[in-house]
This record gives sequence, C-alpha cells and structure tokens, in this order.
Amino acid sequence: MREPSDKDILRLARQDLVAMPGYASVEPPEVLAKRLGVPEERIVKLDGNENPYGSSTKVREALASFPRYHIYPDPEQRRMRESIAEYVGADPDRIVVGNGSDELLDLTGRLFLSPGDGVVNAPPTFGIYEFVARTYGAKVVEVPRREEFALDLEPMEKALATGAKLVFLASPNNPTGNAVSPEELERLLAHDVVVVVDEAYAEFADGSFLPLAAERDNLIVTRTFSKWAGLAGLRAGYGVFPRAVAETIRKIKMPYNMNVAAQAAVLASLEDRAALAKNVKLIVDERERMAERLAAFPWLRVYPSRANFLLCQIQGRSATEVQAQLRERGVLVRYFDSPGVRGCLRISVGRPEDTDRLVEALAEIGAAVV
Ligand SMILES: Cc1ncc(COP(=O)(O)O)c(C=O)c1O
Repeated sequence: MREPSDKDILRLARQDLVAMPGYASVEPPEVLAKRLGVPEERIVKLDGNENPYGSSTKVREALASFPRYHIYPDPEQRRMRESIAEYVGADPDRIVVGNGSDELLDLTGRLFLSPGDGVVNAPPTFGIYEFVARTYGAKVVEVPRREEFALDLEPMEKALATGAKLVFLASPNNPTGNAVSPEELERLLAHDVVVVVDEAYAEFADGSFLPLAAERDNLIVTRTFSKWAGLAGLRAGYGVFPRAVAETIRKIKMPYNMNVAAQAAVLASLEDRAALAKNVKLIVDERERMAERLAAFPWLRVYPSRANFLLCQIQGRSATEVQAQLRERGVLVRYFDSPGVRGCLRISVGRPEDTDRLVEALAEIGAAVV
C-alpha cells in the first residue's frame, strides 16, 4: 500500500486554514548575535515592544520558591480574578485570564464568530485581529485608517450597520501609537455589535476605557502583563467582559489555560506595582527623549505615540535598507510590509543607552543609505 504523504492528510483539513498565511513574528536575537559574532547582550532589541527593565525581582523570587508546580491551576481562576479586579477596579466576575491577551482575543473570536461572519478591522493595526477572524472562518472587512492613522468611522459604521458583528480596535494602536477617542468609541458602541478594545499598552498612555466597560454590555477590554510588567515570555493577559460574556468564556476556554508560574508572576507583579510603575515612567520619559533625538534626523518623521514604541517614516531612503543596516550594527527594529506603514519602521523604546546606540547607528548609516 502507498504511504500517504503529508499533503494527502491535509486534504481532510479545513482548506481555509491550510491556505492561511502564518503570523509574522520577529527573529530571535541569538541568531543575529551568532551571525555578527557578538555576545547576545550587545544586541539592542527594539523590535518586540518588550520591557527593557525585565520583570520585577519579586517575580523571580516567587518563581524560585513556588511550591506547587505539580498541581493543576484553578480552572475558575479565583485568586487571579480577585487580584486583577482590585488592580483595575472591576468586578472579578467580569474577568477572564489567559495565556497572554492574545488568548483572550482568540476566545472572543471562538465565542462570537462563525464561518462567514463579518469582522471589521482598521489596518494598519495589530496582526492578531485578522489572524483570529480568519481562524474562525470569519470575513474580514478592512477599513484602512485615514491621515495620521485616525479611524475612518463612516465606512466602519456602514460595515457594522450592514451585518458585521465584531470590531477589533487597539488603543493605543500597534504599530501607529495613537489612541481611540471616547467619541469614536461611542459611535461604534452605538451599533448592535461587539467592540473589542485591546489596551495592551494602556499603562504607557493616560486614559483607559475600562470604566466605560462597566456600563456597556457590548464592550470588551483586553489587557496584558507583557508590556508594563515585563512578563511577555511567561504569557499573562486578561480581559474585562460584560458579565454574561465572561461567564461563557470561562466555560469555553481550556480549563488550565494559564499556567501556575504565570499566575505566581502576576501576583508578585501586582504586589510590586510601585517598582514596576517606576519602570513605566522611565520608558515614557525615554519615549519623549527618543522622539526628540530621532526627530533631529531630517530624513525621519516621528509620529506621536502613547505606547512603548515610536513609528518613524523614513523619507527619501529605503526603510528596509535602513532596517538591514541597523541589523548589521546589532540594532533590531520592526518593518511591516503592509499598506499604510510601508516606508516606516517601528522602534520600541528601550533604556537610554539603547536609544544612544540606535541614534549612533542611524547617524552612521544616514549618509550612506539611499
Ligand atoms: C496591540 C497588542 N495587543 C496584544 C498584544 C499581545 O499581548 P500578549 O503578550 O498579552 O499576548 C500585543 C503584543 O505586541 C499588541 O501589540
């Protein structure tokens, strides 16, 4: 009998998933360090919007002494929900925690989206929204942002009024750094649809839609410990949902979706909030200093940002070439080959010394790259 090939077996799979492009993620810094022949610590990693100060020292202590790695986590996530509820000022019943906020976006899709449903997306934005919509067979209605990356509300509302069910918005938005205004959100919430506001970067911005979420039964707010608390590698996020939605999502999630190490790290981070807030302040201050230093290059246009990164338009030069030249100097930044941000680089805010290395490298390559 003929051995079936991998391809044969995929005939039994969902063809829309087989044909789907994968999520483009960043290359690990150790690969570059090896190629450049420098120690990994010399790589300036400004491509993942990670926290340059790492996690709290209390997290390391808590994980080193954690006594119950052999016991399954509480599927009802009681302790987590109570601690996070206290942090955000929401009722614990309205909270669900997960393996990064990505998982809460996925679970929202799982609950609301059937094949053929419409999802409104406002690119350029975080790639996971389209990814989630597609994995559930939903139809993505793209409404590109306008000048300065403002939402194009009229066509968004038209799509929502004519059958789309769900809209994803990041505030502040990745990779553009701008936030959604309360007026914009109100207009979208007025429709009979689910509005997801992804506040992954909220701690770097002033203002949050969490208070509004308590009043509206179609608003979901997702948050993460990846950015402000430096837990990106452990995966810890949460969502604040309308009560009935939270209850249903807790029912349809995998029972042990957040591991005990991530849970211990969340508790330790919340206990060390003051120290972590100092790091957030360092990053916000550095964002402003970095924006000024970058704006001094006549060939860079820096967009205002309320997150822990800056989007820069490269003028009169090739952005991919600038990215490649930075790489050769051990500085990693992100380029997105997508409409609206072609010709732009997204640069995460690091420590002051990281900015200095970045600026030094840009000065070196500035004259050479065209
Ligand atoms: C807008 C936005 N939402 C969510 C995430 C992912 O967060 P998490 O690490 O909690 O899955 C990111 C990560 O870069 C992001 O930019």
